[in-house]
Amino acid sequence: MSFVPQIYRKILSLRQNLLRKVYSVNKNVDQDQNYLARRIFQKIEIKGPITVADYMKEVLTNPAAGYYMHRDVFGEAGDFITSPEISQIFGEMIAVWLINEWQKMGSPKPFQIIEMGPGRGTLASDILKVFNHFKLNQTTLHLVEVSPHLSEIQAKRLCGHSTFVKEQETPYRHGTAKEGVEVNWHKQLCDVPKGFSLFIAHEFFDALPIHKFQKTNMGYKEVLIDIDIGTDISNKSEHPKLRYVLARNPTPIQHSVINSNEKRDHLEVSPESMLLYRDICERIKNDGGLALICDYGHDGTGTDTFRAFRKHKQVDPLEYPGSSDLTADVDFNAIKQMASQVEGVLTFGPITQREFLLKTGLDVRVQRLKQTITDQKQLDNITECYKSLTDTDKMGERFKFFALIPETMKPILDVYPVVGFSEK
Ligand SMILES: C[S@@+](CC[C@H](N)C(=O)[O-])C[C@H]1O[C@@H](n2cnc3c(N)ncnc32)[C@H](O)[C@@H]1O
Repeated sequence: MSFVPQIYRKILSLRQNLLRKVYSVNKNVDQDQNYLARRIFQKIEIKGPITVADYMKEVLTNPAAGYYMHRDVFGEAGDFITSPEISQIFGEMIAVWLINEWQKMGSPKPFQIIEMGPGRGTLASDILKVFNHFKLNQTTLHLVEVSPHLSEIQAKRLCGHSTFVKEQETPYRHGTAKEGVEVNWHKQLCDVPKGFSLFIAHEFFDALPIHKFQKTNMGYKEVLIDIDIGTDISNKSEHPKLRYVLARNPTPIQHSVINSNEKRDHLEVSPESMLLYRDICERIKNDGGLALICDYGHDGTGTDTFRAFRKHKQVDPLEYPGSSDLTADVDFNAIKQMASQVEGVLTFGPITQREFLLKTGLDVRVQRLKQTITDQKQLDNITECYKSLTDTDKMGERFKFFALIPETMKPILDVYPVVGFSEK
């Protein structure tokens, strides 16, 4: 065995340990498969049944063992695959859309790109490549990412290894992308500086905590999570089991989030998302910019959509907390309501991913790409990606696109409608 790989391995392991020390609240957590389940158990023992929102937050973003916090969950080897991971064409189409709408606004400078929940950083990276192609490098990229591990993966993809981490500060990570663009990482949107912003949120809002309610003879009751009957908490080798229960009395959140004319048997509300919708709308209205939100979702008609995915299969959200992705459909109607409350922001959509991609010229882009390729495998791959992104039984129909644009743009949009969202 040669000397160099040994040193390399040693450096890697030291670095790994250092990262653990910085990010892990408790090193033993790594070895304890049941840590999160036990923590949720203890919480319920002390507080009583917890809300689905509390459960989701704990499971997805608990600093020590949350689903997103310490691993890469995407792709074939992970639990689910997202559109940016399928093909770079997806990011390119979004980048061209952003540039086109930004130009209609008079190409204001300086401007910043803000991506919420950037996953592996693939979409941001594909967007920067296109901006670079059009020589639009005088921008700043702000990534809102709660996961230290994913921020590390994003940093490698965007900036190579040259980022600086200051865990307790904001931005908590800082670097320069290969395209020369400054990149900053923040834990929350309120830490991102104000200014003209192009927002992109792809499969971000579906990961934010929801409260669930069920209609009963005695009005709406909040769905809570409790310890299953017969579970022996003292037995550490037994895997803790959870179950849904209904709150006996109205919960504090209930009065403020359920409309008096609500009719659905089940409904889900995400106050955390609503606060962000407000922040985004106010920023766009006051500082200028736009937002593109792409996600699973409905137009205020969705019911029971809370679900979990492990190894590309739908599983029980209460089984093995922390081992599967939890998600709930985005309520696009809630964004529309927030935009109208804020006033001064126009909404577009939701439309399907298929509609958006085809109307923004995916076919032309794919044809051009195919003309530059002779290898049959690569050609087949492009066809496969095209189908995955647009087929109605794949991502084409399931995913929706939604845009927010300042009302001051109305006279221009009447002549040059928002690309993808208009009939033309
Ligand atoms: C489903 S993934 C989507 C990743 C990426 N946008 C894509 O489509 O490939 C959700 C992303 O949001 C991040 N995230 C989840 N909850 C968050 C929160 N409360 N604040 C900031 N980021 C969060 C996750 O760490 C992850 O990067």
